[in-house]
Amino acid sequence: MSMGSREAGRFARATGPGRAVAALVPAALVAVLLLRWNAMRAASREEQRCRQALVRAARIVLVGELSASIAHEIHQPLSAIRSNADAARLLLGQPSVPTQELPRILDCIRCDTVRAQEVIHRLRKLLERGTLVRRDLNLHALLEEVIKMLGDEAQRRGVVLVLHSHAARAMVLGDEVQLQQVMLNVILNAMDAMRGTAAAARTAFIETRDGPGHIVVQVHDRGHGFSPDEAEALFQAFFTTKDGGMGLGLSISRSILEAHGGTIHAASRSGGGAVFTIRLPVRPEPAHAEAVDPVQGAGMSPAWPSEGARTAARSTEVTQ
Ligand SMILES: Nc1ncnc2c1ncn2[C@@H]1O[C@H](COP(=O)(O)OP(=O)(O)OP(=O)(O)O)[C@@H](O)[C@H]1O
Ligand SMILES: [Mg+2]
Repeated sequence: MSMGSREAGRFARATGPGRAVAALVPAALVAVLLLRWNAMRAASREEQRCRQALVRAARIVLVGELSASIAHEIHQPLSAIRSNADAARLLLGQPSVPTQELPRILDCIRCDTVRAQEVIHRLRKLLERGTLVRRDLNLHALLEEVIKMLGDEAQRRGVVLVLHSHAARAMVLGDEVQLQQVMLNVILNAMDAMRGTAAAARTAFIETRDGPGHIVVQVHDRGHGFSPDEAEALFQAFFTTKDGGMGLGLSISRSILEAHGGTIHAASRSGGGAVFTIRLPVRPEPAHAEAVDPVQGAGMSPAWPSEGARTAARSTEVTQ
């Protein structure tokens, strides 16, 4: 626009017949620029729509991969509800009904109903079309939720997921479902990579640390790893080494993280396997800011987390 008005100013000084032509040229230029600007805006809206559709499609595939585990997660509380209902019916059939037992049975039924509802709620959230919503998120809570979602699948595959929440500042501004999608992708990849790993070593560590202005999340595995020249190719769309893979998980994860001002990189672990490093800008937490040591944990150790770290204050271990 500013270009249009600058042109208009320059042409206005022309005189004679040239003056009318000169007056038309900037108007035409403005019209062309306006058309191009509108076309560009429409294209970028279209690009954004396509991107969102792709992200959602990949999420549906992701949920599909977890379907056996989700079915199992819902089946468990439903079976417990049924057993408890049968037990209550038996009790009611007795000549002297032990009424003190009934409230306990009803409480169990209620708890299991809530458990099943939680699974369905998580699933619905992942499958919702929803627009991108940024809000304050605690990344530790998000990781715990993701590990809960993967718990059953990990158990089925004999994988142990260990979370070390070392970061003192874990608040980020982001879209919860998209960030969950990123973490699910990276952890599922780690689990895939460990299919051929000896059962005793099939552990993935998910670790958070403070970085300068960002939170660092690392996912370490002891899987088959990749060659050094593949480290960047992994993030290209449709790059896959899996039979049923689409090769979209990492490329979508990178674009989600970049849209959040973050990054993701892959490296080989010295002892074999891979480590994926995610960085996300932290949201300042004024109430606790003074208590935080900005230097603490600034550098991530590329080594396998030490055994001592397993006793970290907020460690969560899932499955055996
Ligand atoms: N932890 C890992 N260890 C070794 N290789 C990995 C790891 N994570 C990803 N890769 C490699 O990167 C490739 C691309 O991963 P990406 O998640 O983008 O796609 P995918 O897992 O093959 O398919 P999908 O689109 O279903 O996720 C994988 O096929 C695999 O070869
Ligand atoms: Mg993947």
